[in-house]
Amino acid sequence: MNAIDLKGRNAVVTGGAQGIGRAIAERLLGSGAAVALWDRDAALLAETARELASRGEVSTATVDVTDAEAVVGAFASTVERHGAVDVMVNNAGIAGPTMPSWEYPLDDWRAVIDVDLNGVYYCCRAALPHMRERDYGRIVNVASIAGKEGNPNAAAYSAAKAGVIALTKSLAKETADRNIAVNCVTPAAAKTRIFDQISQTHIDYMLSKIPRGRFLALDEAAAMVAWMVSEENSFTTGAVFDLSGGRATY
Ligand SMILES: NC(=O)c1ccc[n+]([C@@H]2O[C@H](COP(=O)([O-])OP(=O)(O)OC[C@H]3O[C@@H](n4cnc5c(N)ncnc54)[C@H](O)[C@@H]3O)[C@@H](O)[C@H]2O)c1
Repeated sequence: MNAIDLKGRNAVVTGGAQGIGRAIAERLLGSGAAVALWDRDAALLAETARELASRGEVSTATVDVTDAEAVVGAFASTVERHGAVDVMVNNAGIAGPTMPSWEYPLDDWRAVIDVDLNGVYYCCRAALPHMRERDYGRIVNVASIAGKEGNPNAAAYSAAKAGVIALTKSLAKETADRNIAVNCVTPAAAKTRIFDQISQTHIDYMLSKIPRGRFLALDEAAAMVAWMVSEENSFTTGAVFDLSGGRATY
């Protein structure tokens, strides 16, 4: 593991109770950061925090990122607990059902856009004034290869993730005059509990599209994010970092 120095930094990881978020949290702790895990699953959050406690300073906030007021509250309590927030990884997300767009239930469409796009915006909106005031911040939004390519039978998810990519670019330009970097990653499929939400046919489709011929490993995603949120990433902002195993070469 490359040593990335995040000592003295405080990070928020949304959706940090499991999956990619948890792997990122572990890697940031291993690099010396204090980590605030945010998730709406209170029970799993508590269990994960217990498991990670020996690795460094960990706090938790039970928060649904679709609730803009709750996000503001969680941000304030995290700043109170840790003193500041230097790093924000907006990773909480859902897949939604797998089906053609013309059959997609409207409630599911709205839920996917709400978590995967609005939730990311609410978290960035809460963090940016604090980061601007301190003239320091590193934000990574977890988008998806679906946002670049558009996956069939996943229109809501693809549209939300494309929105995250564009949001990232806008926020980066708005903050480029400060020592703030706003970037996103576009992972291909990685085996996590999110697979429980989608059909096996869709999982097989996603795997068939990856030239590497395998799923993304969680620590591979975490390794990229760890550098992206480090002080050393001082120039690149508004960028889309590929994690697609060769699927997207643009
Ligand atoms: N696993 C993949 O194949 C894959 C591929 C590309 C992108 N992604 C993205 O990576 C991110 C993490 O996915 P994962 O695979 O680790 O999924 P996961 O289901 O394992 O974990 C997601 C976490 O987010 C939390 N969460 C969901 N909605 C929330 C909300 N409204 N408020 C707060 N927390 C919420 C869940 O409770 C869960 O702990 C998501 O944004 C996902 O879209 C995943």
